[in-house]
Amino acid sequence: MKFLKFDEIDSTNNYMKEHINDFNNYDIVSAKTQTTGRGRRGNIWLSPEGMALFSFLLKPNKKKEIEEYTKLPLLAGISTLSALRKFKEDVFSFKWTNDVFYQNKKISGILVEKIDKAFIIGIGININNKIPEEIKDIATSLGEQYDIDKIILTVVEEFAKYYEKFENGKWAEILDEINKYNFLKNKKIKVDVRGKIFSGIAKNIAEDGRLEILIEGDLKLFNVGEIRIEKDFLI
Ligand code: BTN
Repeated sequence: MKFLKFDEIDSTNNYMKEHINDFNNYDIVSAKTQTTGRGRRGNIWLSPEGMALFSFLLKPNKKKEIEEYTKLPLLAGISTLSALRKFKEDVFSFKWTNDVFYQNKKISGILVEKIDKAFIIGIGININNKIPEEIKDIATSLGEQYDIDKIILTVVEEFAKYYEKFENGKWAEILDEINKYNFLKNKKIKVDVRGKIFSGIAKNIAEDGRLEILIEGDLKLFNVGEIRIEKDFLI
């Protein structure tokens, strides 16, 4: 397994994408800082020193239906959460679909990108970086010095374990575990469905990776592309 380490780079996802043929399954690229770190939905991912900033490659050996791959962020989420619990036994949760929360605030974000038949899984974790004042209400860090390389390796090792289980048909078991840490469960949320706002109560993450939301007495299933959860309304 390759573990390439940069002091500064534009984005570890970009680097892996540009050199995709140099990498094999579970090879890692990390950086101390990124100049143009990318988040989901085209957001910028601020990448100061003190964060774990890395990408690794997944080359599935079996062909699967595309829907199966929508589960990858969930697998990456539970792997990150379970790795972090090895360093700090505390209150971590998984916020559907791509975030890990620590003490009710975001500590990690995940960006999965498909390149031909492979996937680049990019993860940023706030370890010992300072959180900017303007996002202090929604983001947090572990707030202590840790061996960042060790955390990165543990996340990738955990991912490899969960992915093997997934490949062996044990998704239901993994999903039970993910639902145990489901941050949104039983929270009153407002969802924006193509511009229309609905109130509901978030429930479990379903077998196909969609979120169950109880709206006016009916349990409805949504995938991430269909809705936007209004953060301000989270209780
Ligand atoms: C999000 O929450 O929007 C996802 C953030 C993903 C950030 C990581 S940091 C390492 C990798 N390189 C990037 O440019 N992005 C991902």
